[in-house]
Amino acid sequence: MTALRRLPAGLAHPFSPAGRADPYPAYDWLRANDPVHFDVTSRMWLLTAHEHCASALKDPRFSAALGQRERVRDDDLPASMLTTDPPDHNRLRAPGTALLGPAAVRELAGDLAAVVDGLLDGLAGAAEVTRHIGEPFATGVLARTLLLPREDETAFADLARRASVNLDPLAGPQAAREGRAAMGELTRFLDAHVARGPGGSIARLAADERLTRPEMLGILSLAVVGGWRPLAEMVGNALFWLLPRPEALAALRDGGDDLARTAVDELLRLEAPIPFTARVTTAEVSFGRAVIPAGARVLAVVAAANRDPDVFDRPGDLVLTRSPNPHLAFGAGTHFCLGAPLVRQAGALLLRGLAERFPAIRADGDPPAWAPVLVPRRLGEFRIRLS
Ligand code: HEM
Repeated sequence: MTALRRLPAGLAHPFSPAGRADPYPAYDWLRANDPVHFDVTSRMWLLTAHEHCASALKDPRFSAALGQRERVRDDDLPASMLTTDPPDHNRLRAPGTALLGPAAVRELAGDLAAVVDGLLDGLAGAAEVTRHIGEPFATGVLARTLLLPREDETAFADLARRASVNLDPLAGPQAAREGRAAMGELTRFLDAHVARGPGGSIARLAADERLTRPEMLGILSLAVVGGWRPLAEMVGNALFWLLPRPEALAALRDGGDDLARTAVDELLRLEAPIPFTARVTTAEVSFGRAVIPAGARVLAVVAAANRDPDVFDRPGDLVLTRSPNPHLAFGAGTHFCLGAPLVRQAGALLLRGLAERFPAIRADGDPPAWAPVLVPRRLGEFRIRLS
């Protein structure tokens, strides 16, 4: 083990309230001075260099199943792909491509464009970004993906919002209990939906003989819990960077589909909605001279890796055309985000649509502040004017 280093006094710990709002100074210090860091506060190892995060996420000695073991569940669902290691992981993940793989997303392209158009048609004047854009966007995108009838969307949004608390490792006991109860309700809602036979990708998933019914429902509910809140919050995180930069908005307006796509990845690089993910080592692992023992809890801090100057030129700047962009906001390796094609397609449509329809879009009042929450990274109230 390397000598124990502590963050210098004066740098907010990334999990403290001040650090949650602005973790980047601590991440920068850790990456430069102690990239394989044992954090005495959380008793976890924090990996902040891109090289180490990418390698840990691809290394079978870092178990996702053990990394999630503290998460107690009472929704009667079996382990999901996110909490399973290979080889069983592949059995649970492969069928999910029927719902979320590139071909499924291509099939949805027209519906996603209609969701974005409908949303933009209803916007004018003042708006609060997450309430009026991010949440309806996430609801519309997931409702079309799951082939939900329009009349179910309000109930679905309410369930998705309540179940999303399961993402937050710092949720208090009461909130966590409510989140788990909402997960049970969401599962029953999805079960009833599948039973009505909506067809398409849902029928293909339901017919997959590799899965039990609870496992199939687990894939659907994971898509909602893993997808709804990060999709909703990525909108505010993106506008936080775009609105003070009229030249970036103009580039999005004029740059076509290719630029809109590289922009989505670049904005996720700068503000990863899922800033880290947990693993537990099943064997001793060395990174250079640093040695992580077996059985250690490790966080791959992808938000820190995404600003690693050894990998990204001008890591703190918004470069909408950045390509290649090997950011880790969608993770890496076997658990790489299954929803990434959907996020990229829908995100590009929304960002370009906002820039085209509202050339004078701007913040309204004080700049927004980052909420003191860890997952997903998100802003507090963010008021804008659309014109
Ligand atoms: C901006 C939005 C999103 C971000 C930043 C994001 C990020 C991530 C990350 C970092 C992981 C890997 C977690 C780990 O390795 O432990 C992941 C996994 C996953 N994501 Fe996403 N996600 C987003 C949206 C979505 C959406 C919309 C869906 C589905 C509709 C989705 C479905 C999944 C699934 C099913 C997994 C588990 C994959 C596996 O374990 O094999 N995500 N996501």
